[in-house]
This record gives sequence, C-alpha cells and structure tokens, in this order.
Amino acid sequence: MILLRHPVCGTLRGARSLSTRASAILSSLDIPVGAELPGVYDGQWSGSGEVLESVCPATGEVLARVRSATPDELHEALGKSKEAYLHLRTVPAPKRGELLRQIREALSAKRDVLGALVTLEMGKIKTEGIGEVQEFVDICDYAVGLSRMMNGRVVASERPGHTILEVPNPIGVVGVLTAFNFPVAVYGWNFALSVAAGNANVWKPSPSTPLCSIAVTKIIAGVLEKNGLPGAVSTLITGGKNVGEAIVESRDIPLVSFTGSEAVGRVVGKAVQSRFGKSILELGGNNASIIMPDADMQLAVPAVFFGAIGTAGQRCTSTRRLYLHRAIAPKFLDALQKLYATINVGDPLVDGTLLGPLHTRAAVGIYSDAVQRLRQSGAEILTGGKTYDHAALSQGNFVQPTISIPKTADPADKIWSTETFAPILNVGLFDELEQAIEWNNAVPQGLSSSLWTRDIRNLGKWIGPEGSDAGIVNVNVGTSGAEIGAAFGGNKSTGWGRESGGDAWKQYVRWSACTVNFSDAAPLAQGVDFST
Ligand code: UN1
Repeated sequence: MILLRHPVCGTLRGARSLSTRASAILSSLDIPVGAELPGVYDGQWSGSGEVLESVCPATGEVLARVRSATPDELHEALGKSKEAYLHLRTVPAPKRGELLRQIREALSAKRDVLGALVTLEMGKIKTEGIGEVQEFVDICDYAVGLSRMMNGRVVASERPGHTILEVPNPIGVVGVLTAFNFPVAVYGWNFALSVAAGNANVWKPSPSTPLCSIAVTKIIAGVLEKNGLPGAVSTLITGGKNVGEAIVESRDIPLVSFTGSEAVGRVVGKAVQSRFGKSILELGGNNASIIMPDADMQLAVPAVFFGAIGTAGQRCTSTRRLYLHRAIAPKFLDALQKLYATINVGDPLVDGTLLGPLHTRAAVGIYSDAVQRLRQSGAEILTGGKTYDHAALSQGNFVQPTISIPKTADPADKIWSTETFAPILNVGLFDELEQAIEWNNAVPQGLSSSLWTRDIRNLGKWIGPEGSDAGIVNVNVGTSGAEIGAAFGGNKSTGWGRESGGDAWKQYVRWSACTVNFSDAAPLAQGVDFST
C-alpha cells in the first residue's frame, strides 16, 4: 500500500499555500516574485526573447515566467564571455581558486534554500535537492585544491641541453548544456573545473529549470562582481534549441559539455566535431545491479530501492535493470516489494516523502507507454504500473514505482536496451555471474553498474577486463549517488565523457608540448642530419 502521509500543497490546501511557500523560497534567493524574470546574464541581466515557464511538477502551478535571449542578446552574451575569458586567463590559477572558495562559501550559505528550489522546480525530494547543491559545494572544494595542482610535466629530451615541458593553459570559453534532472550540480562540475583552469563559461540550462540556473548565477555573479571580475565568466543564456545550436556551432567555444539524451547528444557530438571542437558528452544510462547469492541482503535491498526510486527514477545513474541470481530471487523480490509498499509519495518538499513527481506531463506519458509495452509483451508487473489517481496528487506528475519481470531477459529486446527516464525496474534471473555480466554489457549504454557479493573472486572478475564495461563499476554500492572525487561518466552510447573528479580537469585546458633548447647547438630529433 502506498501511504499518503503528506498531502501536496496547492491541491488540498489550495494553490495559495504553495505560492506562499514558493514565494518564500524565491525571495530567499533574491528572485523577484510575480514579475517576468530576465533569463540572460553576461555581467548585466537582460532577456527580451521568448518566454519560458517554470512549472512546479508537484502541483502544476506556474512558478515564474522567464524571458530568454533574443538572437542579438545571445550574440552579445557570447561576445562578453569571450572578453571574460581573455581577462580570466591572466589571473593566476591559485587566485582563481580563491574565487572558487568564495563561491563555495556563498553556495553553502544558501544550500538548503537552493536545494528547496531544486525540489520546487525539478520535483526531486528535499534531501536530494540539498544533496545536489552539496555536490556543487564539494566540487568547489576540489577545484580550490586543484587550482594549485594543475600540473604539467617535464619530459626528458633525447637532445643534449634540451628539455620538454607539457604545459596546460586555459582553453577558452566552455559551453555547458545541462539537463533538467540535475539543474544545479552538473553546471557546478563543469564550472568549478573550468574556472580553475582559467576559462569563461556559457551555461544553457534545460528550458524547464530556468529558476535554478538564475538562482545559481545570482550567487556566482555576486562573488565575481565583489572581486572585480567580469560577470561573463559565468554567462547564463536561457532558451530553447536556438540557444543550444548557437553554442554548439560557435567557433569561439572550443569545448562543449552536453548532458542529455543519446539522440540529442549524437547531433551535438557531430556538430561540434565538424568544426573540430571538443565535446564532453554525458548521455543515457541503462544501469544494472547484479545480486549474487552471497550478497548481504540487508544492504542490497535498500540500495536497489534507492537506485530505482530515488529522484523518481530520473537520474542518469538510476537502477533500471536488476539481475538476480535464481537462488535468491524470490527472497530478494519479496523484501524489495515490502519496501516499495512503504514508500511515502507526495509533496517532495515535506520531510519523509521519498517519491516526488516526474518532472513533466510528457514524462508521465513516456512512463505509461513503457508500462503498456511491458504488459503487451507479457511481462509480469509485480507492483506499480499506474499513475496515482488520489485527488491530492492529481495536479502533479506522480507515477507508481514499478517492478516488472519481462518475459525474456534477452538484452537485445527494446525493453532492456532503451532507457526510460521513470521509476521502472525490470528484473531478470541468471544462474552464472558470467551470464549477468554479459547482459550488463549487452546494452548500448555504459554509465553505471553495481555488483553485490562478498566473494573477492567475483569482485576481481567484475572490475577487470572480463567485467562491466560501464564508466562506473561499483561493488556493494548501488548504481546512483556517486561522489565528486572520481571522474563521472560513461562509455559507449553514454558518450565517453568524464566530468567532476579524477583526470576530468585535463579536458578543460589546451596542452602544449614545449621543447626548449638551452644549448649552443640546434640538433634535430631522431639524429636527422640536414646540414648542407
Ligand atoms: C545525473 O544523473 O545526470 O551519481 C548525474 C549520481 C549523482 C549524479 C547523477 N551524483 O547519481
């Protein structure tokens, strides 16, 4: 049974109560309530183009109207960001680190209210909204340290009196195109590394989460302006396809970081490549958890529960496929279904709610179509499969978390090979680990994966050459909820991009190999003799 512990404000208590709460959140973030908001920042706020509506996914209420960029404003903002880069590249890296430290402090001071705005506008539950802002804070900490550690190399030269340096320099303006599901953190991952590296940034957020981007930009802009730096170090251009295309096609933007669907990523990747730009692609995930018979159930069941239902199944890292060893499948499914039955669905801003709405009405349609396909193909729906029809939830995009056992475990079947951005978990049974790994790897996407076992031999296989081919290969940890310290990203049709920690920063610089001759002779490499 689904417990409706908290009614959704705006339906039971009337739209005004949500408005009051929404107003309080917006006001705490310096966002005027009721007025049309300018959605472009390049040192100045502007925006007189098409109107974007920010709609609360829990109640359907329009939270704000945002004016995106006209073509002239877009052009102007791109020009300003280039000027900002020309300035920032002259600021020493540790000073850029100090700037990031101040931005970290400013974000941290607003963490909870910014997290609440993420909840209000995107729909994820409060603890996850706050967690997302925490990711931005964490990556700022990381980048502060990085600003003193972006080391090049000294390479031994084969020629006497010569030395070779590998030198990282800022790359230019970085375009950052983000998705609705992480409307704060993903810009943070890119921005923090990119600023440490000395670049200006142009951010095009999802058209459905303009408020989060405005709130973040206001916080960053305040720090930039206080430090006498150009605001266009963090340019914001809200808008639709035209803005995305302008960024992707601009020869003044050498690096484009794109998070979104495989379909759009394919277009972005090709377009950037065709002008010899660089891209970082974070595309679809179709992530599996594999449960071996020796897994600790007490840990594995809640982890799968969070992986499948967290963010209402709208993380790129959400668990979509569950491969259970036949020996423990009934016990595992029983325990999992018991947890599903206890979930609190409702207002994502209320403590204790675990399941909020999907982000859009369209997503509800996608969920319903996927469930219908499952039913038509003879899948057994163990739980869920419907939208919620309680009056209290009817204004929002609430869908029941679903567990299904498809008729076939054949990974080539569309049910298994496509990513559906909703809380649907498909279950397959296996007998040998090798078979489960084969299924894990057989889909086009390669973002995250997770194996549950206490046997070190399984672990060795899983993380080695015969193991998971995903970018994230976890052991006794679910597929979602990665920390910022390791490079984040996936292989194959997920796009091979890496953001956040690890060596990801190396993509935000241009590398120069500098051979320096300190000697009185000028010998050629490889002993080539070109004397006359
Ligand atoms: C995403 O879903 O686009 O690992 C990012 C996680 C989060 C980030 C997800 N730290 O689930």
